[in-house]
Amino acid sequence: MAVMTAPIHIERTKNSRLSSVDFSNLGFGAYISDHMVVADYKNGAWHEPRIIPYGEMMMSPAILALHYGQSVFEGMKAFKNKEGHINIFRPQRHLQRFNKSLERMCMPPLSEELFIGSLASLVEVDEAWIPTAEGSSLYIRPFMFANEARLGVKISDQYSFVILTSPVAPYFSKPVKVKVEEEFVRAAEGGTGFVKCAGNYGAAFYPTMLAQKQGFDQVFWTDAKEHKYIDESGAMNVMFVLNGKLITPKLTSTLLDGVTRDSILTLSSSLGIEKEERRVSIAEIEEGLKNGTLTEAFGVGTAAVVSPIASISIHGKNYEVPAATAESFQLRAKKKLNDIRMGIEADVHNWNYHVK
Ligand code: COI
Repeated sequence: MAVMTAPIHIERTKNSRLSSVDFSNLGFGAYISDHMVVADYKNGAWHEPRIIPYGEMMMSPAILALHYGQSVFEGMKAFKNKEGHINIFRPQRHLQRFNKSLERMCMPPLSEELFIGSLASLVEVDEAWIPTAEGSSLYIRPFMFANEARLGVKISDQYSFVILTSPVAPYFSKPVKVKVEEEFVRAAEGGTGFVKCAGNYGAAFYPTMLAQKQGFDQVFWTDAKEHKYIDESGAMNVMFVLNGKLITPKLTSTLLDGVTRDSILTLSSSLGIEKEERRVSIAEIEEGLKNGTLTEAFGVGTAAVVSPIASISIHGKNYEVPAATAESFQLRAKKKLNDIRMGIEADVHNWNYHVK
């Protein structure tokens, strides 16, 4: 699937930092690639995007994003296979979500041409930064922020759209220990839980920090009214195999419409499992952990891909989740997803955007 794009102005760096990257120890987000996309919105219109060397940006300390939080991002990935072909995974779907987030935050939408055209050019310019070790990829971070300098509380009239990329290893290096959060709230119905806005992440730091002090890696956010139903986890959606069925919280205004979530649900029937998107109660998860009918729990997300959950703490009681085996749904789903992205398996859903 191709998108009609205009040629983009490219200024290449004279000082590549590529040789300083330790590709055997990438971590997540530690390195930013040589170039970035920058485009400006002024006087009601987007102006020519450009690719320039990654570096500092001049801005006023009065910009509205810093004070009132108009800042939205996306997270996506590019992969290079053995033949050297580069695929970006589902950029159209990421753009749809980005535009939904932007609408909720009163920010101007982006066209396919601007979003996909400029990110495909950026990935091509920094092609040498795409890692090829198994499980690694080039993480792509498009984001937009309000850059009108004004202290009055208002919707900004000016914005910057920027894309950075970063060669990354898997987000979690081992199965994740989670705690069901029953005091703090990530999102309430009608709020911005479904939006990928910066504030959602900043607001999650404090409860997550407290959970980490207790020895957990992440929390399961629960509904704001009763703390009885699971929404999502820190940087990922959550899925369970319960009584042999794949179950995941249904989409509401309080959780993110994950692209990996959607991909795994789409692949589930070809992997021979029935799926249910519905409210998922903590009580049924606890019951399933007690009587052995809950056989898998895992997180799914662009950064997390498919991350096994090792244990779940419910009302202060810690339950071990059975370890994933080669037959587990989650590992079969992860392999299938990976094979599609690397061009090993046919891309019947047209998810890959071919850069070259
Ligand atoms: C992503 O999967 O892109 C995320 O949003 C996680 C990120 C905050 C690291």
